[in-house]
Amino acid sequence: MTAEKKINKQIKIIGCGKMASAILDAWLKKSVAPENIYVDDPKPSEWLLEKKKDGLNINTREDIPFDYCFIGVKPQSLDEIKLKLKALSKKKVTFVSMLAGIRINRLERIIGKDESIVRIMPNLPAEIQKGVTAVKENERVEPKQSKNLAVLLETFGEIVCFSEESKFDAITAISGSGPAYIFLIAELMTEAGINMGLSRDESFKLVKHTIDGAGSLIVNSLLGPQKLRENVTSPGGTTHEALAIMMNKENGLSKIFSSAIEAAAKRSKELGKV
Ligand SMILES: NC(=O)c1ccc[n+]([C@@H]2O[C@H](COP(=O)([O-])OP(=O)(O)OC[C@H]3O[C@@H](n4cnc5c(N)ncnc54)[C@H](OP(=O)(O)O)[C@@H]3O)[C@@H](O)[C@H]2O)c1
Repeated sequence: MTAEKKINKQIKIIGCGKMASAILDAWLKKSVAPENIYVDDPKPSEWLLEKKKDGLNINTREDIPFDYCFIGVKPQSLDEIKLKLKALSKKKVTFVSMLAGIRINRLERIIGKDESIVRIMPNLPAEIQKGVTAVKENERVEPKQSKNLAVLLETFGEIVCFSEESKFDAITAISGSGPAYIFLIAELMTEAGINMGLSRDESFKLVKHTIDGAGSLIVNSLLGPQKLRENVTSPGGTTHEALAIMMNKENGLSKIFSSAIEAAAKRSKELGKV
């Protein structure tokens, strides 16, 4: 961890599974000292257990003033931690919920209308500081709190601030779940390579660097994805043959992607009602 980037805030994490661990991993590598982190999770991620075995010394005192409470349980477990959240109210804590589907007004009903509450939707590449996090704050968050939180969130990647919470179901379906779609594409391309005679290692190495390179090109190029695609598709060439199938209007990827992503957004809405 580089000393000059240290963020000196006390952070409590309730529920430290896959997503909160990815965030914690980035903080520990980059900006937050372990003694500033308290984890409340009876069965945290394997990653955290391993880290503790390797000597990671996180804070063990719960009776200190926390600046932030990150909520990382599953949406279905929110009711179980109601009392823990309520116990932190009126203590100048900024509550940051990463729960899919759970709206700010539901959290306000649990914690209190006067509390500073932020809804975020991070994603797993946070672990390597390549995440993207959507952010929506309630009206109680003051500019200074907002600025400090941005520094904390930027440790694990880009942030995009929203004024409309109604967009969170779409956000969840696009960037929250998005890494899994790319992992699936990597799996499918690797299998296709194997079916055509490549070894698993050969195929996967080609696939992962292709995805990495194409992703970097999208991020760094001035051209949009459509133009980049068109530029590598010469008429009558190999890419053209593949894309003719993938872009088939009847049964190509466009229909599959739009119905799959709509299903994810619908699930996000449903989770908000559990
Ligand atoms: N995974 C993602 O890519 C992703 C992306 C964006 C947002 N999110 C959101 O992040 C949240 C966590 O997702 P996840 O994938 O990290 O799930 P997860 O791995 O199941 O993590 C949830 C953690 O909370 C713990 N927990 C359950 N009840 C608890 C309680 N009463 N007190 C303290 N800890 C408790 C769980 O322990 P047990 O294992 O014992 O139940 C588990 O360690 C969800 O709300 C999800 O919507 C996830």
